[in-house]
Amino acid sequence: MLKVNKFIHESIEKIKKDVNGRAIIALSGGVDSSVCAVLAHRAIGQLLTPIYIDTGLMRKGETARIKKIFADMDLQVVDGKTNFLRALKGHTDPEKKRKAVGETFIREFEREARERGARYLIQGTIYPDRIESEGGIKSHHNVGGLPSVMDFEGIVEPLQDLYKDEVREVARELSLPAEISERMPFPGPGLSVRIIGEVTEEKLEVVRAANAIVEEELVEQFAPWQTFAALIEKGTGVKGDVRVHGWIIALRAVSSRDGMTAEAMELPWEILRKIESRITGEIPTVSRVLYDLTPKPPATIEFE
Ligand code: XMP
Repeated sequence: MLKVNKFIHESIEKIKKDVNGRAIIALSGGVDSSVCAVLAHRAIGQLLTPIYIDTGLMRKGETARIKKIFADMDLQVVDGKTNFLRALKGHTDPEKKRKAVGETFIREFEREARERGARYLIQGTIYPDRIESEGGIKSHHNVGGLPSVMDFEGIVEPLQDLYKDEVREVARELSLPAEISERMPFPGPGLSVRIIGEVTEEKLEVVRAANAIVEEELVEQFAPWQTFAALIEKGTGVKGDVRVHGWIIALRAVSSRDGMTAEAMELPWEILRKIESRITGEIPTVSRVLYDLTPKPPATIEFE
């Protein structure tokens, strides 16, 4: 069992010791980076600049939401959409996509740090991110996806030994709003791991709209550990009286304790049908919706 108060106290002291000067923190608005931001702010105060990069791979309404939540923390919002899309162009291999996102994140942060005279990058990597990257399962953008040469004096990861449920306990103790402490995980590489194959603006638009529908229908009512939509490929369909070649969307809803293993949720048929009819009805280019039954293992939670 994590001793939450002890952890908070010790990690603040450790950040004070490890960071000698200005630092930036990579804030995504998820529970990990938000907890990290609060700890780092308590440790080094005004020497910290929180930076949110709008990668273009985020969920619907995310940028506006994060600006509102962190309004009193001098959050800097950086528009990185063009750079991320350019870095992902032509990549279809999941690992190459992760590396492209990881590299672009770091280059964006390096530039922002340079402009502010900051030599340290603080980020919310947690324990499962590390073991899955080190174990070669996949590169989490904020671990194995990092380039080997980085222009920082130090990368500080205060949550690197914690599991997600422990991070949530810390978040509650720090009085972060439930909107953050109880929020579903969202992967660092964003919607790029919910698109099979090359990431394009068109696919992003489709998968973003599908994710918004899935969250609206499932999050409050069924409290899944995680739920989302992924874009698979194209398949034939009939819309109106016309045969179409439309996108296939896979719906995922899992229960889990820490993300290391997961079970597909047994959702009622009516809700599955409702989500299918909303997705195919509201997104004209989607012709098919599937429900993913696979536990982790053998699948992972995300599709890439
Ligand atoms: P998988 O897909 O490996 O995901 O079963 C386990 C959990 O981790 C999240 N995830 C990530 N989180 N950076 C992150 O910070 C990443 O690169 C990343 N990839 C996956 C995923 O959403 C799930 O909650």
